Amino acid sequence: MPMKPISKRISTADILRKKNHEKIICLTAYTFPMAKILDEYCDIILVGDSLGMTIYGLPDTVDVTLEMMINHGKAVMKAVKKCFVVVDLPYGTYENSPKQAWESAKKVISETGCDAIKIETSHGMASTIKFLVENGVNVMGHVGLLPQSVRKIGGYKYQGRDEKSAQEILETAKLVAEAGAFSIVIEAVPAKLADKISAAISIPTIGIGASANCDGQVLVIDDLLGLNQEFKPKFVKHYANLAEKISESVKEFATDVKTRNFPERKHLI
Ligand code: KIV
Repeated sequence: MPMKPISKRISTADILRKKNHEKIICLTAYTFPMAKILDEYCDIILVGDSLGMTIYGLPDTVDVTLEMMINHGKAVMKAVKKCFVVVDLPYGTYENSPKQAWESAKKVISETGCDAIKIETSHGMASTIKFLVENGVNVMGHVGLLPQSVRKIGGYKYQGRDEKSAQEILETAKLVAEAGAFSIVIEAVPAKLADKISAAISIPTIGIGASANCDGQVLVIDDLLGLNQEFKPKFVKHYANLAEKISESVKEFATDVKTRNFPERKHLI
């Protein structure tokens, strides 16, 4: 009798092994149906706090709550059979102390069952990462453009364009790796700096607006699918124009209802 295939989830060891070998495919997902589709093609699904904008219509990620992240983390975990799932810790839930970060990470992991958390890592967060890792939490770092700091830095701007800030980002990435993170997102920095970081650290780098030489790439799924046509930063490639497709489909439905072409006999019992 044929055996049912054992579903094997991707581990941190699998991800670490990909460094300099095989590209890591990472996308965001926030819901069950989307995670179910992405699970086949991705290595990592990120339940990003970008959900504040894509799902909740907020102007940025600053007001995203732990509760939002947990609810969407749970939905994604229900769908996933293979992918490694990372959930963002939102602004205000980890920066005060390693203990605060630990309490938040513990809550997210125990309530969702996710595999790791991601924190935006400015200078000084290395001790928090070390504390989390020592307490058994898998941590993904995030350097370059830090969307949770967007109100402080005055917008979504490329980072590390001058020598001093490039050096600071490189140093932070090195500290993140030394502290025990299993991978790091590099967002919106010059390709030369991203390449320097990838060469300098032993953990996989996942780029977004960074460099093709990063060990992997991540995009927000709504951007990839063209769900918001008004939002198209330089680093986004629209692989579809779903906003238009949805609009056409809904228009057709509305016309069908008005003209009594829906429901048809076959749709009824
Ligand atoms: O929240 C998010 O979606 C992210 C990605 C842009 C990396 O952090």
